[in-house]
Amino acid sequence: MKLTRSVLATSVMAMTMGAGAAQADKLTLYCSAQEEWCQVMARSFEEATGIDVDMTRKSSGETFAQIRAEASNPKGDVWWGGTGDPHLQAAEEGLTEEYLSPMREQLHDWAISQAESAGNRTIGIYSGALGYGYNTDLLAANNLPEPKCWADLLKPEFKGHVQMANPNSSGTAYTTLASMVQIFGEDEGFGFMKGLHANINQYTKSGSAPIKAAGRGESTVGIVFMHDAVAQAVAGFPITVVAPCEGTGYEIGSMSIIKGARNMDEAKAFYDWALSAEAQNLALQVNAFQVPSNKGAQTSDKAPDMSTIKLIDYDFVKYGSSDERKRLLQKWDEDVSTLPQ
Ligand code: F6P
Repeated sequence: MKLTRSVLATSVMAMTMGAGAAQADKLTLYCSAQEEWCQVMARSFEEATGIDVDMTRKSSGETFAQIRAEASNPKGDVWWGGTGDPHLQAAEEGLTEEYLSPMREQLHDWAISQAESAGNRTIGIYSGALGYGYNTDLLAANNLPEPKCWADLLKPEFKGHVQMANPNSSGTAYTTLASMVQIFGEDEGFGFMKGLHANINQYTKSGSAPIKAAGRGESTVGIVFMHDAVAQAVAGFPITVVAPCEGTGYEIGSMSIIKGARNMDEAKAFYDWALSAEAQNLALQVNAFQVPSNKGAQTSDKAPDMSTIKLIDYDFVKYGSSDERKRLLQKWDEDVSTLPQ
C-alpha cells in the first residue's frame, strides 16, 4: 500500500521524536473491530512503516476491562476500533492519552466532536447504525412473520430465535441497551430488554457473532450493527437486513492511545496513519461496511445508507460516561440477565 507523503512524514516524525522510547519499531495494538479488518490494518501498517505489530482482537467492553486492569503496568499502545462508549469511559477514567493528530482536519465533524467531548483522549474512526438481520430461509421454515420493528422481536413466536451479545463484553450489545433506553425511556427500555430476554437463545461475547450464527442457520435473528448484517449478505448467506421502524441508535467507532503506552512514538504514528484516507480505504478489502471518518475515504456502495435510517440523537456523552455505563450494565445484570427464560 502507498502512503501519501504527508501521512508518511507525520509517521516518521512521530517515530523519531521520542528519544526516550523504551522499545523501538514495535506496537501492541488492541483491536475491537472485526478480526479481518484488524488483521489488514496491522499488516498494512507493518508494510508501510517497518514497525512490528502485535495485534489482539477482543470486544469493546472486554478491551476496556483489560486496559483498566493493566493501568498500573500498561501493555497495550493503541486501542483501535470498537464502539465509542467504552472509549469515552476510558477517557473519563484517565486510562487514555490526550493527542491532537495533524490528521484531524481531514475528518468529519462527528469524529471530532467525539474527540472534543473526551478532552481529545479518543477520536472517531467510523460510524454505523444498529439494527438486526434475519435468516430468510429459517424465518420461512418456522412460519415466522417478517419482523420490521424492535417490538416485533418480542412476539412469543420468536422465542428461542433471537441472539444478541452480552452488553458487558460487547459494545454492540451495550449500544443496543443504551438505544432502547433512549428510544423507549428507562422503564420501557428495560421492559423491552426483559421481553427480549424471554426470546434470546444465547448471549454471545462478541457483537457480530449473532449474525454469523444466523448466516450459518444456527439462529434466526441476530441483533447487530447493520453493517455486520450486510457483510453476511454480501458473503452469500440468506440474510435480510432490518433498520427497525421505531428508529435506532448508532456507534462512533473510536481509537485511543493507551495512557503510559510503552511505544508512544509508534502509537502516534499508527494513530495518524489510521486516520488517513488510504488506511481507512483498507476496509473495502475486507467487506467492512462502516462509514469512514476521513472525508476523503470511500464508503462502499453496499454500506447501509445512514441518511435513509431513522437515527436517534444518541447521547454519547451521557451513555459513554463511567457512571451511566456502570449503572446500566449493573441494572441489566441484576434485573434482566437473571430472569428465567
Ligand atoms: O464487527 C464490527 C463491529 O460491529 C464494529 O463496527 C464495532 O465497533 C465492533 O464490531 C463492536 O464489537 P463488539 O460488540 O464485539 O464489542
